[in-house]
Amino acid sequence: MDPENIEKEAIREAGEILKAGGLVAFPTETVYGLGGNALDEKAAEKIYEAKGRPSDNPLIIHIAELSALDKIVTEVPENARKLAKKYWPGPLTMIFHKSSCVPYGTTGGLETVAVRMPNHPVALELIRAGGGYVAAPSANTSGRPSPTCSSHVEEDLTGRIDRILDGGPVGIGLESTIVDFTEEVPTILRPGYINQEMLEAVIGPIRMDRGLISADSDVKPKAPGMKYRHYAPKADLLVVEGSPEKVQEKIRKLAKEKVQEGFQVGIIATDESADCYPLGLVKSIGTRKDEESIARHLFGVLREFDDCGVSFIYSEAFDTPQMGQAIMNRLLKAAGQQKIQV
Ligand code: TXA
Ligand code: MG
Repeated sequence: MDPENIEKEAIREAGEILKAGGLVAFPTETVYGLGGNALDEKAAEKIYEAKGRPSDNPLIIHIAELSALDKIVTEVPENARKLAKKYWPGPLTMIFHKSSCVPYGTTGGLETVAVRMPNHPVALELIRAGGGYVAAPSANTSGRPSPTCSSHVEEDLTGRIDRILDGGPVGIGLESTIVDFTEEVPTILRPGYINQEMLEAVIGPIRMDRGLISADSDVKPKAPGMKYRHYAPKADLLVVEGSPEKVQEKIRKLAKEKVQEGFQVGIIATDESADCYPLGLVKSIGTRKDEESIARHLFGVLREFDDCGVSFIYSEAFDTPQMGQAIMNRLLKAAGQQKIQV
């Protein structure tokens, strides 16, 4: 479906599926979501089942109108209103205390609820057609990289859901930034396209969840979903950090060792560095001149390596200006936090 030229009948049908308690996958600007009626506990149950997702991992409720917020939360702090005004519709999720109409099935048993207004015409029209409240996790099998095009959704969920709305590849490629407003100081639970600086420019100081800063320590992240090994490719993934020359040299050395031992090796490089690796299956994730290209291709590249039969993947680090924290958060999760500094 062309996002600029929405097929009204297809949206209407998909809306009917949601209203009847069924599941519809749909594009957003971040990743594809797997939608069900957020106010229907049974629909939430089906989402968990289709994804194979642990039921303590809460879902985000997607809305299409700001006025929809007041029905599902008890209170909206002033600063959250400011962020909504600036960044909604957009890749920002905010957490509030839930009102009684939100079933615990949707919030994984929590008293709080995550809400977001996606910036994608197909998503917004579907939400409106489906009754206004669509619970949607990323539309992948639990543990796999989030889907950034409809074929990823098909790979994971064909036969398990009622419909897929194909709106082409997504724009951002990483899931939304999550800010928790149920803490004394607003707290980032998941980094995304909208970074700390962009949030602080609107509402002043906020915190980063301690479980995120020290992802390899004992502190548990507050967002239940952030504690799981995620995006994990079948191969063993190692991230190499340092200056470009040293990183390339180290990856060449590691790749050579493994190839000599008889293993197939994958390398995640950029347009600038791809030619520096004579051995291994080299994939460029994008160009360092455009960090958005790197974010957009990360999950797709991880999926591609799953189909290539490589046993080891070495990746460069991507400390880019705006989304570096979000990109590295996802990449290191995929690597089970395995990294070396050179
Ligand atoms: O960009 C996105 O946010 C995508 C698209 C589809 O909108 N959705 C998405 O949903 O990434 P999901 O379910 O894959 O990730 C939701 C994250 C999980 O880590 C979950 O634990 C956290 O949000 N979360 C949801 N509700 C929460 C709550 N009440 N308290 C703390 N964390 C919560
Ligand atoms: Mg997810």
